[in-house]
Amino acid sequence: MFEAAPLNPPDAIFGLIEQFKKDPTPNKINLSVGVYQNEEGVTPNMKSVHLAEEKLLAAEGTKSYLPIDGSPSYRDAVGRLVFGDGLVTSDQTFLTTAQTTGGTAALRVAGELLYRVLDVSSIWMSEPTWANHKNIFTAAGLELKFYRYLDQAGTGFDFEAMLESLDAAKEGQAILLHTVCHNPTGVDPQPEQWNRLFETIQEKSMIPIFDFAYQGFGESIEADATPIRTFAKLGECLVCNSFSKNFGLYAERVGGVSAVSSTQQASQAIQSQIKKMIRMMYSNPPLHGGAIVDTVLNDQQLRQVWEQELGEMRQRIAQLRDQFVAAMKERLPDRDFEYIRRQRGMFSYSGLLKEQVIRLREEHAIYALESGRINIAGINHKNIDRLCDAIAQVMS
Ligand code: LMR
Repeated sequence: MFEAAPLNPPDAIFGLIEQFKKDPTPNKINLSVGVYQNEEGVTPNMKSVHLAEEKLLAAEGTKSYLPIDGSPSYRDAVGRLVFGDGLVTSDQTFLTTAQTTGGTAALRVAGELLYRVLDVSSIWMSEPTWANHKNIFTAAGLELKFYRYLDQAGTGFDFEAMLESLDAAKEGQAILLHTVCHNPTGVDPQPEQWNRLFETIQEKSMIPIFDFAYQGFGESIEADATPIRTFAKLGECLVCNSFSKNFGLYAERVGGVSAVSSTQQASQAIQSQIKKMIRMMYSNPPLHGGAIVDTVLNDQQLRQVWEQELGEMRQRIAQLRDQFVAAMKERLPDRDFEYIRRQRGMFSYSGLLKEQVIRLREEHAIYALESGRINIAGINHKNIDRLCDAIAQVMS
């Protein structure tokens, strides 16, 4: 029977990591997966995380099961981080948060909730979007619909095109929105565009799902949450957040799914359904990563250390964008690279075409996604010249 199973092609992102690891080229460059790398090309464990782990070890806790929706103190801390204290304590907004195994499980739980409980059959998402969004929501049973996102050049936002695509959206359909640092493009809407988009969503009675995987990588921890906090005052929505990137807890799988409901009763019912979905899929969340986030967010000193570290990552990526644009302009003065400076977060839709990305990999041992997405954090002072020479060569 097993012979009947067709071979699945390698994952577009994780498949490249495997290929990169096997590549014997000594000065190979990895701009593929969305993992922060420092100037030494290393993905460091954050100091705040290390200090929290020391504190947890000294406290000698238990490894007995967590509640299905995670520890109450984690849920409270995450709610405050995402929504802000004002909304958490407001008696007009009914919020609940459940701990999940990373952002992926949060998205899948949201998908299950939409399809099985709320009778939502379709979800709109940007074209392009993170490749796994398609897998996750298809697996949950939803039909995928796509709104246009990029301009003709493929490197900037086309808001009118997005709104035009949404003309075809119908009442009760879901819409997936990247809250900040759009993956894969790095292209985000402006504040006034968010407001117009929310009007459309409300006119059409759609349910937004905010994917929030990069809080702190755009402008600041607080400012990056603005679209969510704005919509939470307008209507019901779901939020899926991840601590892979902003705590560097990639392998610990830590995240959350939150719901904004219009009444206390709806809020309780939604949380009970979220618990049912979690129980059916993976029973309850793992302890360690969530305990780290909980410890850092609830300890003033550790939180300061974390905010500083996150700020440094954000600033370093912004500087790398400047350096990269300057280095490319030197090599190809007739080409405009300013869009790379306008994009935000780890990723850039670089303008590289698929054939050029393949040449970078095969001729220069430089790994990027075939869509042209590069991870800016993979650039450093040691590789920037070689990288820009190679890009200029394949782009010429
Ligand atoms: C990425 O987009 O590279 C990351 O979010 C890692 C992943 O799971 O795909």
